[in-house]
Amino acid sequence: MLTERCPEAARIVLVGFMGSGKTTVGRRLADRLGRPVHDSDTVLEQRAGRTIGEIFAQDGEPAFRDLEHRVVADLLDGPAPFVLSLGGGAAMHPGTRRLLADRALVVHLRVGLATALERVGADPRRPMLARPDLPRLHADRAAAHDTVADVVVDVDGTGVETVADTLVALLDALPSRTTTPRTENA
Ligand code: S3P
Repeated sequence: MLTERCPEAARIVLVGFMGSGKTTVGRRLADRLGRPVHDSDTVLEQRAGRTIGEIFAQDGEPAFRDLEHRVVADLLDGPAPFVLSLGGGAAMHPGTRRLLADRALVVHLRVGLATALERVGADPRRPMLARPDLPRLHADRAAAHDTVADVVVDVDGTGVETVADTLVALLDALPSRTTTPRTENA
């Protein structure tokens, strides 16, 4: 059984840039594994009673990041197993990265900037798209997500179902943590 071989796989967390397909792949993966799925953006908006666009506009990005960190920490502390899709900047928070390293199996859905922009276009839920330094932001995020990830899947040119199938196969092939602990791979 997956969680016996790899206890961290009780909490599968999808990270990646906006438009990488985290929400859609997360739903499908959770379906395939028979688990609930959470989306940090949705939980955050419900908790705040405001949209992400409103929070950015009224309180600014640092306040949004604090809220986002608390939402992710609470989800990681909640009942497992689950699949969790994170907002595209959530894993840039050092505290969130520490929690992910300790408690989750992290999957980076790696997407090129061109594909990401084709998919998301202009979206009020994604104020970060208005950043003038988007290529730099994309490169920095990709590097950070690669670092925090246990598994990296390149999603350009690949449909959501295929990505979810690839992940199921990768999870099936995961070696036991008792023989290859994370520290040996670091
Ligand atoms: C953000 C990505 C968004 C959302 C917010 C900030 C980011 O989530 O959390 O707009 O900083 O990249 P998605 O990655 O689901 O679009």
